[in-house]
This record gives sequence, C-alpha cells and structure tokens, in this order.
Amino acid sequence: MAGRRDVLLGLGGVLIGSAAAGTWRVRRMPVSAIAPWQSLSKPVADARLDAFRHAILAPNPHNRQPWLIQLEGTDRAVLSCDLGKRLPQTDPFDRQITLGFGAFIELAAIAASHRGLRVDVEPFPEGEPQPRLDQRAVARLTFRPDPSVRPDALFAAIPLRRTVRRPYGPLPIGALAQLAEPGVVLSEDPVRLAQLRRIAVSAMTLEMTTPHAHLESVGLMRIGAAEIDAQPDGLALSGPMIEATALLGITSRASLADPTSQSFEIGLKDLQQAIATIPAAAWITTSGNSRASQLAAGRTYARLALRAAANGTAIHPLSQALQEYPEMTKLYAQVHELLAPEPGQRLQMLVRLGSAELAPPTARYPLEAHLLP
Ligand SMILES: Cc1cc2nc3c(=O)[nH]c(=O)nc-3n(C[C@H](O)[C@H](O)[C@H](O)COP(=O)(O)O)c2cc1C
Repeated sequence: MAGRRDVLLGLGGVLIGSAAAGTWRVRRMPVSAIAPWQSLSKPVADARLDAFRHAILAPNPHNRQPWLIQLEGTDRAVLSCDLGKRLPQTDPFDRQITLGFGAFIELAAIAASHRGLRVDVEPFPEGEPQPRLDQRAVARLTFRPDPSVRPDALFAAIPLRRTVRRPYGPLPIGALAQLAEPGVVLSEDPVRLAQLRRIAVSAMTLEMTTPHAHLESVGLMRIGAAEIDAQPDGLALSGPMIEATALLGITSRASLADPTSQSFEIGLKDLQQAIATIPAAAWITTSGNSRASQLAAGRTYARLALRAAANGTAIHPLSQALQEYPEMTKLYAQVHELLAPEPGQRLQMLVRLGSAELAPPTARYPLEAHLLP
C-alpha cells in the first residue's frame, strides 16, 4: 500500500516539476471559486446583502450551499431550500442541510451586528416540513436597528474559518477552554475519546464502503481547479498532486468510486488515519429533533467553528455515525449511547478538534446565485 502511494506521489512530483519548468501547464488552484472570501471589505449599501455575503461562507454539508434568498421590502428576507441540493442518501431527512441553514443564519446575524442591526428569526413560518424539507420557507429574517446590539467579535473569524480534514496534533494547554459556547460539550477525556475514535473510524469506513452513500459523495467531487471554478460547490479535490494524477487519469470520479482502485484505497486510508487523531472533541445535542432545534444547533455549531478559527484550533465534523440511513443504525445507536443517552436526546453535531495547518478556503457560488428574482 505505502509503496503504491509513493508511486502516486512520485508521479505527481514528476508532473509538478514539469509544470514548474513550463513544459506542462497545470493550473493548480481555483480562482473565481474563492472570490467570495476575498471581496468582503468592499462596502455594500443594503445591510441584508452585506450580511448574506458573509453568510454564504458558512459551513454546510458537502458544501452544497442550498440557500435561496428572497428579499422582501427593505428589511426582510425569506430563506428557502434549493431542494435539488439536498443529500438524500446520507442525509435522508435533511437534518444536516437544516443545520447548514442555521450556520448561514448565525453568520448573517453576526455580520448584521456590525451594522447595529438585530436579526429576528422566525423559523419555518409556514410550519415545519417533515419528514423532508419542501418548498416552504426555512426562516423569515427581519433586520431591525437596535441600539442595544453590540458588534459580535466573532465577525473577524468569518473569513478565517475552515473545515480541516488533516491529521491533528495536540492542542496547546488551555486552548479547548477558549471554545466554550453555550450548548456545546467540550471533552479531552481520553477514555471517551478512545471510544469516539473507534466509532468515528468505523462509521467513516462503513460510509465509504456503502455504495449508495459513497456514490453520493463521489458525484459531488470536483477534481482539480478547472472543475472547482466551473462548479464551485461539493467536495473539492485540489492541489498539484490532484491536478497531476487527474491528468494521468489516476484520479477520476470512476476511480474514486471503485473500491478496488488505488485512489479509493488511498482516500480511505488517509481519512481513517486523519480521523483517528482526536486530541479533543465537541458535540451539540438537542432535546427532541424539531426543525427549529436543528436550526438552533446549526447556529451553535457556526459559533463553535468561528471560535475555533479565532484561536487557531482546527475543527472537523465527524457526521457519519449521526446519519440516519439504514446501514448506519448500529453505529448511530452507539454514538447516541455514548454522547446523548437521555430519552429523546439527539446528537446533532460531533467534531474533532486539534492543531493542524489550516486548509485553503473552499469554493462558493457568488451571492447573486442565491438571490431569487
Ligand atoms: C451539518 C454539517 C455536517 C458536516 N459533516 C461533515 C463531515 O462529516 N465530514 C467533513 O469532512 N465535513 C463535514 N462538514 C463540513 C462541510 O463539508 C464543509 O463545511 C463544507 O465542505 C465547506 O467547507 P468549509 O467549512 O471549509 O467552508 C459538515 C458541515 C455541516 C454544517
């Protein structure tokens, strides 16, 4: 295995060398896809659009960005879900997609606070869609001037936040305590972390070897800078090695889908190794599983992720065992027994935390792509 990986890395190295020498033109990093992270200092007159250009940088499942925005009057907006952007295989009840809406709303509210605005949120004003989301509104937001609103300090962390999937080293002493946030449980308990590691690695392995679940992710992989710029969502694979191996046909959607291929084997092993490093963990539970509680949990998660970005802690959701498709039933029960054992208690978010080099920003569609006419 290690030998084959070295071959792959070696081939990448040869091509990168050629590219550097100008003999092989490989464009390495996405450009337009990361523009939404870079234009935040330009003034925007409409406070709602200012809030939403920050909100589209929210963490969200598989980076599907399913947010549709209808501006109403001068101070309101209605959010709804682009239903084609849900994840029916791994998120059959749209629970995680709803959490992503919560994260979006929290970032909008944080940004609005810097303009002296309070955002009143009416979750699911036309009723809670069950068992799946539908075309009804996810939330109605009203932006109101409020002299008691203080600018939220997490604002500065919005452009710094990343999901980091690398192996993690230990956290500096005291770093975990800085992430304290109402609704979040933080843990460095080695016994609990060992149990979590076993569940998380098993769940990731199960997901990658369960064809319908894995194929959903593969279908959303964007391989190389050109694909990422053309379709700035989904799971981006970028960098010189990917460009090079994609050119050679070693990395392709077909190879990533094929459990007997080298790309699949390497991808699985890399993920298993990274996920096994859990220097600390955090989780968010709710009592019951209403849509409103999912939105609230997403808001809490966004605040945790921003706190992590602000103090340089790497954060990575481990959602596989929390997912509700039939093959995951056993691990779902185990993770709930461990972290959310009360009757009716629901584990909404589980992450590992540690030290790691930050990842580059991920792709985003521009704000205009989310605005309904
Ligand atoms: C509810 C939810 C669940 C997520 N689950 C996972 C996960 O299991 N594994 C993972 O690598 N990323 C997970 N993510 C992170 C997203 O994939 C990530 O936010 C998205 O790709 C955009 O990247 P960014 O966070 O770096 O901006 C999750 C995000 C949310 C909001």
